[in-house]
Amino acid sequence: MLTTSTTIPLLPGTAIPQIGFGVFLVDPEDTQRVVEDALAVGYRHIDTATGYNNEKEVGAALRASGIPREEIFVTTKLRNDHHKAGDVEGAFERSLEALGLDALDLYLIHWPMPANDRYVDTWKTFETFHADGRAKAIGVSNFQIPHLERLLAETEVVPAVNQVELHPIFQQRELRAFQDGHGIKTESWGPLGQGKYDLFGMVPVQAAAAAHDATPAQVVLRWHLQTGNIVIPKSNRRERMAENLDVFSFELSDDEMRAIDDLDENRRVGGHPDEIN
Ligand SMILES: NC(=O)c1ccc[n+]([C@@H]2O[C@H](COP(=O)([O-])OP(=O)(O)OC[C@H]3O[C@@H](n4cnc5c(N)ncnc54)[C@H](OP(=O)(O)O)[C@@H]3O)[C@@H](O)[C@H]2O)c1
Repeated sequence: MLTTSTTIPLLPGTAIPQIGFGVFLVDPEDTQRVVEDALAVGYRHIDTATGYNNEKEVGAALRASGIPREEIFVTTKLRNDHHKAGDVEGAFERSLEALGLDALDLYLIHWPMPANDRYVDTWKTFETFHADGRAKAIGVSNFQIPHLERLLAETEVVPAVNQVELHPIFQQRELRAFQDGHGIKTESWGPLGQGKYDLFGMVPVQAAAAAHDATPAQVVLRWHLQTGNIVIPKSNRRERMAENLDVFSFELSDDEMRAIDDLDENRRVGGHPDEIN
């Protein structure tokens, strides 16, 4: 049975809460309040990135919450310009310092930036962070199958996670199948479609919401969880944070899951990883 505390095992000895809280586009001046609210309503997994410019404020919220460090799973990501410049060690240390942490639970390469052809070398440096214990797990984001194939062929540690755009009209079926075959966990960014299309008005979402006395956002998040994805919805509003975490008192039927599966158009709403360099 899925619960707020459900975790997905990563590398030996580590596990990620299946539902977490993302802070993309949370202004630095709002971030401490937003993350404190998220922790107060029950999230124990925070997803930030150097590129979000709010690691320092996330760190302040972690400390202000008074929740023991080991109870909160913290992810951050290597910013693209640091990746491009080969400033991987320095960027990692600055992230730890900004967050006020000795170690990360998960460190991700934010984008592969394939035209720069640096991601294999960057990953080898990530392996050292894992080996010395400063990153309990390491993973990637926005990697496509050929990028993952290169890491599998040319490096030692299998990425624990690939965090990718994933929501009902862009379900990443081929990538998910590949990752399932290699023990790479799938994490959905933009799980609510970033508000960029009328996800909440779609018939199967509306129908399931009516059937379970749930909101469309809850139905979509439940679909991610039952699909097996790690999911990190963002909201600045405390009532929506609570709503998005309150997805464990109902279960979508096989028919409801299939109807949402059928919404897939293989259509992104965000940037294509090959074009971000
Ligand atoms: N690795 C990457 O390249 C990458 C890229 C993008 C995102 N991410 C990560 O994934 C996280 C989630 O993705 P996202 O923030 O882009 O998009 P998202 O979670 O799909 O959508 C966030 C939007 O939905 C609204 N919202 C949230 N809960 C709602 C609800 N219950 N009802 C109606 N609207 C709701 C939010 O508005 P309010 O804030 O006003 O509630 C916000 O506009 C990010 O925060 C970040 O941590 C990673």
